[in-house]
Amino acid sequence: MAKVSASILACDHTKIGEQVLEAEKAGADIVHIDVMDGVYVENVTFGPQLVADLKKITKLPLSVHMELVRPETFLPMFAKAGADIITFQLDACPNPLHMLREVKKAGIKAGLGIGPSYDVERLRYLLPHIDGLILMSVEPGYGGQPFEESIYEKVKRSVEIMDETGIHVPISIDGGVNTVTGKKLVEAGADILIAGSSVFGADSITDAVKSLKAL
Ligand code: DX5
Ligand code: ZN
Repeated sequence: MAKVSASILACDHTKIGEQVLEAEKAGADIVHIDVMDGVYVENVTFGPQLVADLKKITKLPLSVHMELVRPETFLPMFAKAGADIITFQLDACPNPLHMLREVKKAGIKAGLGIGPSYDVERLRYLLPHIDGLILMSVEPGYGGQPFEESIYEKVKRSVEIMDETGIHVPISIDGGVNTVTGKKLVEAGADILIAGSSVFGADSITDAVKSLKAL
């Protein structure tokens, strides 16, 4: 059974709290919060206040996905806000090992995000330092984008590299995840399905979470 991480980007932003609680009740495992700066990506989204407020109402781990430049600068404010997992994009950070150490020093799980046009071969050097991996199957920036089919091969290759190095961390997939792509992703070796539109854009958030969880 896959774990489901509900990406609030696709929520009705006037109802984020109640929609997160519905996803939690339906069995979602993680809340995924995309933080965008208008520089690394065009879009601008959430700040630390939302993380702190969600922390008060949900027991689920809060996973902050930094889609921004200079992630080190943003780390202290999201650590203080109560992030449980912080993931930054590899191509947004020239010294990733340093950032990974800083995240861990703050007592937070450190995740690494890899965009759809980057290969995963560098993983072998990063695996000893990470607690989780987000492979993106869309370009960072928006929900509801076209899904890159190359992701399946990338998931398989990541599993191979983990087998070769003997270091296994959970593999999450972010972008275009629904029951069809999700099924194939789980077969390829994905552990966590990050889903925005297919959960919060569905007629029933509850049914959508349950269908993904069942994969
Ligand atoms: C995109 C974000 C995703 C986004 C995925 O930059 O990282 O988390 O919410 O959205 P869907 O599931 O709609 O493709
Ligand atoms: Zn994301």
